[in-house]
Amino acid sequence: MDDLSDSGDPRRLVERGYDHVAHDYACLEGGAKWPRMRWLKKVLDSLGPGSSVLDLGCGSGDPADIEISKEHTVTGVDISQAQINLARQNVPSGCFMHGDAGSVEFAAASFDAVVSFYTLEHIPRKEHGAILRRAHEWLRPGGLLLISIEAGEYDDAIGEWLGVPMFFSCYDPETMKQMVTEAGFELFETTVETQVEQGRDVPFLWLFARKA
Ligand SMILES: C[S@@+](CC[C@H](N)C(=O)[O-])C[C@H]1O[C@@H](n2cnc3c(N)ncnc32)[C@H](O)[C@@H]1O
Repeated sequence: MDDLSDSGDPRRLVERGYDHVAHDYACLEGGAKWPRMRWLKKVLDSLGPGSSVLDLGCGSGDPADIEISKEHTVTGVDISQAQINLARQNVPSGCFMHGDAGSVEFAAASFDAVVSFYTLEHIPRKEHGAILRRAHEWLRPGGLLLISIEAGEYDDAIGEWLGVPMFFSCYDPETMKQMVTEAGFELFETTVETQVEQGRDVPFLWLFARKA
């Protein structure tokens, strides 16, 4: 991977990238299902009906927000307008905002759960701690946090992904777990699971936690 030194703003790169590949991304999962819905079920099984769920980096809303919206209210934030347009079609009852998960604002204690699948690795890692602290603030007491993030270590790097340049940034899994705890969460389930993307095995760290 290249580093970012000459490439400008990572957010614009990611926004442009996902605007371009929204359709191809929707087809990427294929037959070998990713573990996202199994993890989401753990959250949904713990929520009362009519709960309020925030999805950071919601993408097209398919499949997670479609499932969440069956019994709960869902709010999604995504930096790609193309993804937000798809989410509004896929989940008519949802509230979808074109914005940056790193700077979006919500009132304290607004949500019963915050989820984020496969997104934080597209945001500079030096911001991950602040995002976790803000998610903690947005949650009601006992609120749930579910995150998946690539289980690698990238220091603000650019690689080609689905034919476009894409930004990647994440700390190693042990550091990420520590950051979740330091943000005020009780981490009660975490593992690294490998999923298949275009025939390639990609490991993701899963973090399931509760606002302590
Ligand atoms: C790999 S896709 C995952 C989409 C969806 N969460 C899923 O489970 O399929 C990553 C998503 O994160 C969004 N994203 C990346 N950086 C973001 C940021 N700073 N703020 C909001 N969304 C972001 C991208 O536009 C893209 O839709």
